[in-house]
Amino acid sequence: MVVTSNGEGGVQPKTDRRSELKAFDDSRTGVKGLVDAGITKIPRIFLHDKALLPHKSASGESRFVVPIIDFEPINSGQERRREIVKKVRDACENWGFFQVINHGVPTSVLGEMIEGDRRFHEQDAEVKKQFYSRDVTRKFIYNSNFDLFQAPATNWRDTISCVMAPQPPHPEELPAVCRDILKEYSDYIWKFGFTLLELLSEALGLNSNHLKDMDCGEGMFVVGHYYPACPEPDLTLGTSNHTDSGFVTVLLQDQMGGLQILHQDQWVDVPPLPGALVINIGDLLQLITNDKFKSVNHRVVAKNAGPRMSVGSFFRTHFQEGVTPRVYGPIRELLSEDNPPIYRETSIKEYLSHYYNKGLDGTSLSPFKLCH
Ligand code: OGA
Ligand code: NI
Repeated sequence: MVVTSNGEGGVQPKTDRRSELKAFDDSRTGVKGLVDAGITKIPRIFLHDKALLPHKSASGESRFVVPIIDFEPINSGQERRREIVKKVRDACENWGFFQVINHGVPTSVLGEMIEGDRRFHEQDAEVKKQFYSRDVTRKFIYNSNFDLFQAPATNWRDTISCVMAPQPPHPEELPAVCRDILKEYSDYIWKFGFTLLELLSEALGLNSNHLKDMDCGEGMFVVGHYYPACPEPDLTLGTSNHTDSGFVTVLLQDQMGGLQILHQDQWVDVPPLPGALVINIGDLLQLITNDKFKSVNHRVVAKNAGPRMSVGSFFRTHFQEGVTPRVYGPIRELLSEDNPPIYRETSIKEYLSHYYNKGLDGTSLSPFKLCH
């Protein structure tokens, strides 16, 4: 019989797991549906391997602080801009993560986006169910765990996701409860993304437009997570250890906390900072920078308080083709005899198929590595 670990040192037959996943998926109401039904023990599908769960003693004791960068002086002359670029370079080389304040997105828009995410997930279940889907070619979908049938354990999280660029959805394709704010927020993040790509290009020693000209800003995929309070938070995770798939991610988190990054073999909290946006490097940027900038592992712990909301904007095209389908490999200007290419070229579609087929599990770039 084929069995998998159920996280309690025991085993769960794979066929049982599969049918339990299917029943959960068929409910079309996600993790929130379980909580609303009043469960006090989490179903087996959510039990994670003990070795991958947070060790209580290790959290909150780190001496590390994720860099915080103020973008306010960005247009106050070349000297101030150079200082910001240097901070961005240090953060991308040493952390893969940083928080930005004074990014130009109004605080009211940030707050309303979190509320829009909440409204979607907390609306009438019958209305919400109509959006439940795993069809990645659709512009807007709602589901629980995009990798439900691939991942070894299920995460305590529901998500809405929307392809906002290059072709935004028609307004009527979006749910009424978050339609306007999703569009307004995305417009701001889209603009901010271009500033980011300029700074990242400069931080790589390239012309400001280099990453934009490579179409790294062509696509934007926005997700709104909802992490309900969990009755047994020590047995599961909100989001398991993973790296992000795009070039760069802009994350908005509410005040609950729970996001952690793996830095020098330690899990370090990314504490909520009111008004800030969290930026992190994705796999595709690591690939084209030939490992100069790192796509760092991160996760979200489960809590028995909640819900927690967060909104991630991934700069990359989705399964739909971009305007110009293209392949990505290490940027030539960054290569030398001492720094030969580590990765082969890939298209975003090929890369994403791999990412979606394996589910969130911490490793993503290895199939694209060249053998030396
Ligand atoms: C993600 C992610 C973190 C969070 O969506 O890739 O890492 O805080 N989200 O929800
Ligand atoms: Ni992520």
